[in-house]
Amino acid sequence: MDIQVATTALTGVSADALVVGIFKGGRADALEGPAAALDAALDGALFAMRRDGELAGSANETSVLHTLGKLETPRIVLVGLGSRREVKFESIRRAAAAGCRAARRAGARRVVLALWWPDLAHLGLGAAHAAEAESLGALYGLYEFKKYKSSSDVNSENSKRVEAITLLGEDEAALRRGAERGRIIGEAVNFCRDLGNEPPNVLTPTELASRARTMADANGLECEVLEREQMQELGMGCLLGVASGSAQPPKFIILRYQGDPDGAPGLALVGKGITFDTGGISIKPAANMEEMKFDMCGAASVIAAMQAIAQLKPKINVTALAPATENMPGGSAYRPGDILRAMNGKTIEIVNTDAEGRLILADALSYARAHNLSPIVDVATLTGAMVIALGNVRAGVFGNDEALERQIVEFGEEIGERFWQMPMDEDYDELVKSDVADVRQSVIRREAGSIGAARILSRFAEGAPWSHLDIAGLSDFSGARPYADKGASGFPVRTFVALAERLAR
Ligand code: BES
Ligand code: MN
Ligand code: ZN
Repeated sequence: MDIQVATTALTGVSADALVVGIFKGGRADALEGPAAALDAALDGALFAMRRDGELAGSANETSVLHTLGKLETPRIVLVGLGSRREVKFESIRRAAAAGCRAARRAGARRVVLALWWPDLAHLGLGAAHAAEAESLGALYGLYEFKKYKSSSDVNSENSKRVEAITLLGEDEAALRRGAERGRIIGEAVNFCRDLGNEPPNVLTPTELASRARTMADANGLECEVLEREQMQELGMGCLLGVASGSAQPPKFIILRYQGDPDGAPGLALVGKGITFDTGGISIKPAANMEEMKFDMCGAASVIAAMQAIAQLKPKINVTALAPATENMPGGSAYRPGDILRAMNGKTIEIVNTDAEGRLILADALSYARAHNLSPIVDVATLTGAMVIALGNVRAGVFGNDEALERQIVEFGEEIGERFWQMPMDEDYDELVKSDVADVRQSVIRREAGSIGAARILSRFAEGAPWSHLDIAGLSDFSGARPYADKGASGFPVRTFVALAERLAR
């Protein structure tokens, strides 16, 4: 979608809906920013609503008000920003998303966002930054995945479409800058969501590779896809082991961005690409198994981040690595008791074929090391234990480089992709000791399952600064949010873009 900018006066805005923000707390009858400015034209209607407790300003809460011909725009969407003290980039992004969704529900096709006002600059949010958040939020909130709905459905209530977004402000150049960055990153996030939402019969490893290649061709990235034969030559015994139960051929997807041809090999982004996880021979229970189509969201996030990186052009080299396969049971499937050898020569004793993610990552991390990529960041829907520990609010970050981990956590506090640093004491290695191989595939009993998995991965990343992001709880929303539909979330594409840009400096 096209995102325009304008510096028109609020009262002169001509659109189907005008979205403005409301802070939570403060005086019950106090209005600030655009809401205050509109109140006079509406004969005090907003003031009355606020006074009567109808505009609390809680984060992402919306109300729609008709203007009855008193303004050019027929309706105003009021959206809560949360408390003034806590407002940040992410508050604006989510409010923009929720506001656009409310406007769409009301049938608006042309929406104007006026969530920024000069006061916010005092809170550390400049006009360009806020415009980026608005632009990101609009694309995020309006995202839909309806391609498999037949036309009878599409013509119903669900067919309401926002066709044009305009960001309102004072500094046109700043608005344009922010809107464009938001569009680039927002489109990448939605590309990630598209890949995640596709059903697993469509999004096979072959299809994932083909979509990565199409994106690469359109954005001037180099794309290489390793086939089974090349995996054999390279000794990727773990990826091949997982793939052996599937009728679908595995793919090892490589995307290269050369932003600094004379520089170091650069950043590796490694994403788990299990296009469907049945658990294999250690098969999963039937309940909710369909959600395991999201087990490729790590791969989707690194592929999608490359699209934004290619368009933003930071001065750094970045390589995305996405080992992709299904995890299926079958006559040729790998078994508990098997011993697999990874590309770096280390062996893993298989104890549960449902712990497949760490296996395919073992080969991908080995590949990253063999190509001297540094730092290495991997991302995976790796463990159910991570969801038990942190729920769907924060993802775990593990690794061998304190500064890199702290950086990733810090980005999140600002941009809203929140992480929590997890422990990596060597003592946990006790849980993954094997009598017959270099390492056991998963922890004994069910102790510290996410940490155990990270300790295993560390053996394959060894020698380079490395972080591991376990996004099992964050790859998708199990229900709709005020700011998003149910389904793939696009997490953590924005973190990768921020990281590439930070390392480039
Ligand atoms: N893909 C799953 C992890 C997962 C679970 C992601 C729930 C999202 C939601 C992973 O492959 C898996 O099955 N892990 C096992 C490991 C265990 C067998 C050691 C798990 O967490 O139960
Ligand atoms: Mn599994
Ligand atoms: Zn899995």
